[in-house]
Amino acid sequence: MKTVIPSELTSVQLQTIMQTAVSPRPIALASTVDKDGNHNLSPFSFFNMFSTVPPILIFSPSRRVRDNTTKHTLENVLEVPEVVIGTVNFPIVQQISLASTEYETGVNEFVKSGLTMKDADLVKPKLIEECPVNFECKVLEVKSLGDQGGAGNLVICEVQKIHIREEYLNETGNLDQQKLDMVARLGSNWYSRSNESSLFEVPKPLVTKGIGFDLLPDAIKYSQVFTGNDLGMLANVEVLPSGEYHSDENVHQNAQKLLLESKIEEAWKILIK
Ligand SMILES: Cc1cc2nc3c(=O)[nH]c(=O)nc-3n(C[C@H](O)[C@H](O)[C@H](O)COP(=O)(O)O)c2cc1C
Repeated sequence: MKTVIPSELTSVQLQTIMQTAVSPRPIALASTVDKDGNHNLSPFSFFNMFSTVPPILIFSPSRRVRDNTTKHTLENVLEVPEVVIGTVNFPIVQQISLASTEYETGVNEFVKSGLTMKDADLVKPKLIEECPVNFECKVLEVKSLGDQGGAGNLVICEVQKIHIREEYLNETGNLDQQKLDMVARLGSNWYSRSNESSLFEVPKPLVTKGIGFDLLPDAIKYSQVFTGNDLGMLANVEVLPSGEYHSDENVHQNAQKLLLESKIEEAWKILIK
């Protein structure tokens, strides 16, 4: 196991480890305005939701590692405590990347990236028409996490209004995860995409109370075939199927194929002699 102490690394080394390890991260496209009404648009992947009631989003424009300067987005939310946060999907990923270019003060990245400004209803920053979802937010607090290059600034936002593009809704009027085709940021230049070919479901163990690893029979728990994921599925049954358990690797391999198709009950059936 390689271990590192943050204070013994350069900021760039630390940033590389943390951004690669803490991934993928969702991307906020933050639309802000300064006190003179100049519009600004930039992506931030230090971003997430932290509360539903009240609806809270947090993102972090950091002090630059390079020269410890601050970003326009941070300066703008300190001047005008409002932001529109657009979510980012595959059809706009190249444009949001372009919007991250470090243009001079007063340059409107909507114009540079070709993304479209649309009036919001409750706040001064513009909506981003192409984003699947736009959140109109009031900024509750900006919390500085330090004064050195690389220090984050938590921008804590309360959502006032949500705009959802109709094309991303399913027949029941809810957002459709497959249609959304979300993208996320990882380390270096890597991005990931959540579309039909990469999405999968893991049923929540809230409905059932799984027996747990400790109650799995040894013949199965210590199998050379099953992975942690396989055992996690087998241990999620409410009652351990009774009988004598196969320790034969060929049987385990057949059960594993069924588990790959999420057929847990059928997998258990063939594991019993
Ligand atoms: C996908 C993506 C995610 C980013 N995430 C962050 C982030 O979370 N924090 C940050 O400070 N910069 C982040 N950046 C870099 C900023 O977008 C970039 O510094 C931008 O120029 C800031 O613009 P501003 O000065 O107009 O606010 C990201 C860039 C990209 C392309």
